[in-house]
Amino acid sequence: MREQRIVVLVSGSGSNLQAIINSLQKGEICNAKIAAVISSKPDVYALERAKYAGIPSEVIDRKAFSDKESFDKNLNLKIQSYLPDLIVLAGFLCILPEKFCRKYKNKIINVHPSLIPSFCGDGYYGIRVHEEAIKKGVKISGATVHFVDEITDGGPIILQKAVNVFQDDTAYDLQKRVLEEAEWDILPRAINLFCTGKLLVKGNHVRILSE
Ligand code: GRF
Repeated sequence: MREQRIVVLVSGSGSNLQAIINSLQKGEICNAKIAAVISSKPDVYALERAKYAGIPSEVIDRKAFSDKESFDKNLNLKIQSYLPDLIVLAGFLCILPEKFCRKYKNKIINVHPSLIPSFCGDGYYGIRVHEEAIKKGVKISGATVHFVDEITDGGPIILQKAVNVFQDDTAYDLQKRVLEEAEWDILPRAINLFCTGKLLVKGNHVRILSE
């Protein structure tokens, strides 16, 4: 299997991007390199992280386009220009069009800050996910890495990891624990499994050949 070219899409602080960069540097992700980081917002810290790691970065500013179609078209062309084997959504806040999801079927992965199918789908992003988990009174939450399909947070699940919810937690406490203990762990692991050819997708099920 040749070295896999990863394009990472971001919209924010990029701590998950940093976890990927660190894992690549430590050799915990093998057979891969980040070909580019593409942000839907200018001036986000994820771009600084890319620059510091010597990774090419681009901004396709959602706000610079009057309609979603022209944004989608430009984003698609930009991603395509980097010839990606894998596209990673690491805190990317735009919904990808159905056509794009079909074009890169089982080649796009996302990290979501809950145990899917809880607290996911349209409108569940950022702190809202954790507010709803706290409101519901769940005792565990966590993170999910999954392939992206046409349904928001609906694609085949690759890895999940649970974290405790403590009774005095605020949504921000939970967000931090999920990020640090679950997302930063399972996102690089899932990427390594993908890039070393260890994921077999059959319908909605992902079989891990060995880790
Ligand atoms: C993470 O919680 C991720 O699950 C969600 O957005 C957040 C991004 O954080 N999709 P960061 O930009 O990687 O720090």
